[in-house]
Amino acid sequence: MGGLRHIQKGEVRMAAIEATGLVKTFKGRKTTVKALDGIDLDVPEGTVLGLLGPNGAGKTTTVRVLTTLMKPDAGTARVLGHDVVTEADTVRSLVGLSGQYAAVDELLTGRENLWMFGRLYRLSSQQAKQRAEELLATFDLTEAADRILKTYSGGMRRRLDLAGSLIAHPKVLFLDEPTTGLDPRSRLDLWQIIRDRVREGVTILLTTQYLEEADELADSIAVVDHGSVIARGTADELKAKVGGERIEVVVHDPGDTVRALELLTGALRIADPESTTLEEHTRRITVPAPGGSSALVDVIRTLDAADIRIADIGLRRPTLDDVFLTLTGHEAEQKESL
Ligand SMILES: Nc1ncnc2c1ncn2[C@@H]1O[C@H](COP(=O)(O)OP(=O)(O)OP(=O)(O)O)[C@@H](O)[C@H]1O
Ligand SMILES: [Mg+2]
Repeated sequence: MGGLRHIQKGEVRMAAIEATGLVKTFKGRKTTVKALDGIDLDVPEGTVLGLLGPNGAGKTTTVRVLTTLMKPDAGTARVLGHDVVTEADTVRSLVGLSGQYAAVDELLTGRENLWMFGRLYRLSSQQAKQRAEELLATFDLTEAADRILKTYSGGMRRRLDLAGSLIAHPKVLFLDEPTTGLDPRSRLDLWQIIRDRVREGVTILLTTQYLEEADELADSIAVVDHGSVIARGTADELKAKVGGERIEVVVHDPGDTVRALELLTGALRIADPESTTLEEHTRRITVPAPGGSSALVDVIRTLDAADIRIADIGLRRPTLDDVFLTLTGHEAEQKESL
């Protein structure tokens, strides 16, 4: 699972996005917030980086700096080799940006909004018109093209917003929480649209609070918390950090728990007793299962041979939520009091 798996092992790609030591502090009258506290990123060309973090982690601020909307207090960043501060105009002409910005005009129609985006990107009126039609078709918005944006649903807005970011065929795309608030069906549609862009060779940095989304779309994930990257790797690598797969067994008879754990520790040759858990009151034992489902068979055989009845058993794959919890001590969905 996870990632688009289109990168060959050992293949070296140029960095499309690189950031080193980005710092950004917001000074209010009473409080000072260090939104970015030394962010380092490296996104090879043609790959997808998922920037994963809870509310207030610094995701949007990172995107704003990388797309030239905001200057960092310290650190540097380059997009396709161009510095985001000293070559801001060039960077702006090369990237597409979508999400949390409301660049659209409520009182214009979908078609007019896209035409306007085209003009902003210096397409001729005729080119802008043609590109708008193409994108309306791609995003299934042709029928709604002449309605003003005020009447669009959340999903239609997201699609129009994403269409707008693609007007100038950008090589690098920034998507800030592209599917937040969408229903499951619209989310799947949008994922497909994003995958299609990846297939065309576009480099994508996407921010998300959805662990599943990062797992699904990103080649590589950077976990952000309080303005810095606290972990990076593929979804599988991050999952391995919490110890890989585990087997959970609930034994039927409370008197069997200790014996069951001893037997399994022997049968599975578990060297580290710390890697197992035993909950007396729920009669639940968990043990590491490096062999996955074959270890499951061993567990059932061992307990059966010892006449220990099993009430419930299952193989549990760690989720990215487990990873976040392990790394930060709090859950990813937790709202930060700002
Ligand atoms: N313009 C601003 N002025 C003051 N503080 C700001 C500003 N922009 C962001 N912040 C603060 O910086 C921190 C990071 O905000 P940011 O928007 O980057 O987080 P985020 O990860 O995008 O969160 P979310 O998931 O809610 O979109 C937060 O504490 C936020 O309140
Ligand atoms: Mg944000």
